[in-house]
Amino acid sequence: MRLSLRFIIPLFLALGAIAYAVVPLVDKLTLQWFERDLDSRASLIANTVQEPLRDAIRAGTRSRLEGFFTRLTQDERLFAVGFCPTGGGEAVATPTLPTEITCATLEQYSGDAGHVLKSADGPLLVSVRPVVLAGAPAGTLVLVHDLSFVARRSAETRKYLFYFFVGLGATVALITVVIAQLSWRGWVQGLSALLRGEGLVRPDKPDAPELRPIARDLRALISDLQAEHGSRDDEQLAWTPDTLRAILHGELRGQEVIVVSNREPYIHVREGENIAVWRPASGLVTALEPIMRACSGTWIAHGGGSADREVVDRHDRVGVPPEHPLYQLRRVWLTPKEEAGYYYGFANEGLWPLCHIAHVRPTFRSADWEQYVAVNHAFAGAVVDEATSPDPIVLVHDYHFALVPRMIQEALPAATIIAFWHIPWPNPEAFGICPWREELLDGMLGSTILGFHTQFHCNNFVDTVDRLLEARVDREMFTVSYRGKLTAVKRYPISIEWPPSAELVGKPVEQCREDVRRRHDLPPDQAIGVGVDRLDYTKGIEERLRAVERLLETHPEWAGRFTFIQIAAPTRSKIEEYQAYEGRVRAMVARINDRFASARRPPIELKIAHHQPDEVYEYYRAAEVCMVTSLHDGMNLVAKEFISSRTDERGVLILSRFTGAARELPEALIVNPYDTDECAAALHLALSMPAGEQRARIRLMRGLIQDFNVYRWAGRMLIDAAAMRRRGRLLERATAPEARRRPVVRTGAGHRR
Ligand code: G6P
Repeated sequence: MRLSLRFIIPLFLALGAIAYAVVPLVDKLTLQWFERDLDSRASLIANTVQEPLRDAIRAGTRSRLEGFFTRLTQDERLFAVGFCPTGGGEAVATPTLPTEITCATLEQYSGDAGHVLKSADGPLLVSVRPVVLAGAPAGTLVLVHDLSFVARRSAETRKYLFYFFVGLGATVALITVVIAQLSWRGWVQGLSALLRGEGLVRPDKPDAPELRPIARDLRALISDLQAEHGSRDDEQLAWTPDTLRAILHGELRGQEVIVVSNREPYIHVREGENIAVWRPASGLVTALEPIMRACSGTWIAHGGGSADREVVDRHDRVGVPPEHPLYQLRRVWLTPKEEAGYYYGFANEGLWPLCHIAHVRPTFRSADWEQYVAVNHAFAGAVVDEATSPDPIVLVHDYHFALVPRMIQEALPAATIIAFWHIPWPNPEAFGICPWREELLDGMLGSTILGFHTQFHCNNFVDTVDRLLEARVDREMFTVSYRGKLTAVKRYPISIEWPPSAELVGKPVEQCREDVRRRHDLPPDQAIGVGVDRLDYTKGIEERLRAVERLLETHPEWAGRFTFIQIAAPTRSKIEEYQAYEGRVRAMVARINDRFASARRPPIELKIAHHQPDEVYEYYRAAEVCMVTSLHDGMNLVAKEFISSRTDERGVLILSRFTGAARELPEALIVNPYDTDECAAALHLALSMPAGEQRARIRLMRGLIQDFNVYRWAGRMLIDAAAMRRRGRLLERATAPEARRRPVVRTGAGHRR
């Protein structure tokens, strides 16, 4: 309505202005036309009356002439007639002749055209014509026409013109408003339909072909604007599950998300009559689980729990989290032979030590490789099974599935594949010892985006590709073009959920301190250090224990007053190297405790057992110090979990410089785990650190994790994937048959564009 008024008021103003200019013009023209007509009429009358006038003059009777003139003025228009004889004889005129007109003043009215006289009787047209008698001038005839009817007519014309303009304005306004309303409604409907993703429609022609190109361009424009907006706001956004959902629905138009990993987020385990649900000790699972809760979709993983088969439906799916399902877990079953070759063999005896600098030799067996290929095929097949569209977003995780991206890309060419390598990537020389190096790289380059935690690992990967494959590497953009496919290699430092869930930090710190000390039979003032790891040789547990021993040597005052609790989740225990490692760790704990047996309490408590997340958080919150001393680690989320658990802003983190986390958390006490003295000194520093300094350091680290939480990690990958998708579509359009038919523009140098 407001829009219509905005149009109608100016329309009326414009029409008023036109009328204002036109009416006087019309008046003037009408007057001229009438004057001209009346003057011709005067000539006509003058010619017509010549004969009777001559007779009357010859007869010389004045009364006859007056009578003749009076008859003439019976005519409605002719107001007065007069005659002035040549030579100054007596003039004859009707009584209506204005007094201003006399024979003496007649000269001023002579000429071809009539003269307008504004008399007391109104406007008059005075025309003067000669009268000839026997070839000689006999006198002058004066014919006076009444012009007042012209004014009357003009007033009428003005009135009709006014009505005309008002009518015209109203008609134009009405037609315009109706058309505007109709088309506005149509466009509004069309646009909202477009934004709802239903396409641009016109209510009268739901599939109006003329709107299709506009719809396409508009859609592209909207999504580009949204994308730009999204990427630009990366810094400003508060990263929450809602932000992630918005990206998924906005940038990726609500595409389904399929996650592939070896380790499953929930393991169903038979415990006597009951089935328990375990949350595995895996940084990958810790990070991905909140993402899946936010995005829904399907997570495909190996069903390795003793009761896993008992809870799935006929499609091998189970809704999780068990207490309130938010997404589907699709389990893939492996035979013992497959598990031995693919998981224990190729992945964990080959690739794991290959990628970590932990001085354990990788072992590569062709039988393991065969299982690795077969299991990768099985998981790629599960992705294809689960996909309900040709272009899902597939997130392939870790070194267990290096071949899966290429396999999916071949089966679903329109899929967006994000592969994330959670562990370090070695330098080209180290990677080059793998007998299947080209196959692994080829498999990984089937992905749209390939992510690592650090730029250093991205550089190593790109160097490796450059060294081993015939690929085009762009170091400016960090992309690899291989077999006609472009892969972006990018750094996405993984993180954890923020804020931590109430389930994990709900119990007050004081309570945690008390409960843990009571459980371990420790006095209330006992200082506690914790280590939380899988029992893996890359974690530097031996090095950590050596540091505790050295602390007690260099600072004996801590003996009996300090206890280090090492929580170690059993892992990959079928592998000899892991069995040996466990043996070495147990022996070392026994030796050190034995050495300090005279102290009030043994310095080390080793708990080799699976712990649920809430139990782990209780230890974090009860401790004075947390030690992360990995020899090599992609990121290490224990470091971030410890910081997030300390809502009281207390506690000190000792962190190995060989973790990805050390690049993000420089306020931790950064150590070289191979340097026992340095680690022992860091322990002493941590145990004696004033509360103010602890708070200052931990606040900075909490701020970083809050800003760079796991939603941002996933969100940035999805935003980049959406951009790659758009670029892909653009390239497709540019190389489509229609585009190829466009004329080739030749430049001066003869190149083709
Ligand atoms: C590392 C790997 C993960 C793996 C986790 C636990 O963090 O990057 O992929 O899940 O270790 O290892 P596991 O072999 O028990 O799954």
